[in-house]
Amino acid sequence: MTRISSMTLLAFALSGLLGLGSALAVEAVEGTAKADKLEQCVEPTSVMRRNHFEFIKHQRDLTVRQGIRGSKHSLAGCVDCHARKDSGGKFVPVNAEGQFCDACHDYAAVSLKCFECHSTVPGEK
Ligand code: HEC
Ligand code: HEC
Ligand code: HEC
Repeated sequence: MTRISSMTLLAFALSGLLGLGSALAVEAVEGTAKADKLEQCVEPTSVMRRNHFEFIKHQRDLTVRQGIRGSKHSLAGCVDCHARKDSGGKFVPVNAEGQFCDACHDYAAVSLKCFECHSTVPGEK
């Protein structure tokens, strides 16, 4: 509790200092995700919008057992390319409030269990 409220205070103080809007969520800096510098997702954007979850389901045990990490549809890959950093250069979890894997889901009322096991930042298991 104490930790959360001091973090909140710090976020307030920082956003005040930097003159940013009312931001309680961690501030990820636009342009710091690899995806921000690229034109294309692993599939055309329209396809990703509609079907991204089909690509990353635990559909078949085979897929999981053989390991598709490193393939273009790996969940670790999504995180690696879509995660942004905060102003201190630290990765902000992709599912944090307002971040890439949260914004639409919040809107669509989708709640992901994936990140109970999978890393929300690049470079971790
Ligand atoms: C109970 C833990 C658990 C949950 C929850 C879970 N996974 Fe996994 N997942 C694993 C394990 C263990 C592996 C195999 C080890 C690895 O490759 O990281 C794996 C592998 C994968 C892979 C292949 C490796 C990679 O990085 O792409 C994908 C894709 C994947 N999971 C997607 C998902 C998605 C999407 C969700 C949510 C809908 C999800 N997982 C939820 C445990 C979990
Ligand atoms: C190599 C970098 C890269 C990887 C890996 C990647 N993406 Fe993307 N993704 C992008 C870029 C760049 C865009 C924006 C394309 C555009 O503006 O048309 C994008 C767009 C998207 C969109 C559409 C967003 C919108 O605003 O409509 C979704 C959804 C998406 N990606 C999900 C995923 C998922 C899920 C994975 C993992 C299977 C993934 N991406 C892997 C770079 C990547
Ligand atoms: C452009 C908006 C958008 C973005 C960005 C986005 N999603 Fe989604 N996602 C959706 C929508 C909408 C659904 C629900 C689709 C449905 O149920 O028909 C969904 C569903 C999912 C599901 C299936 C959930 C379930 O319970 O079946 C997974 C898994 C998923 N998204 C993973 C991701 C990951 C991982 C990212 C970030 C790399 C991401 N999404 C980014 C819009 C988005």
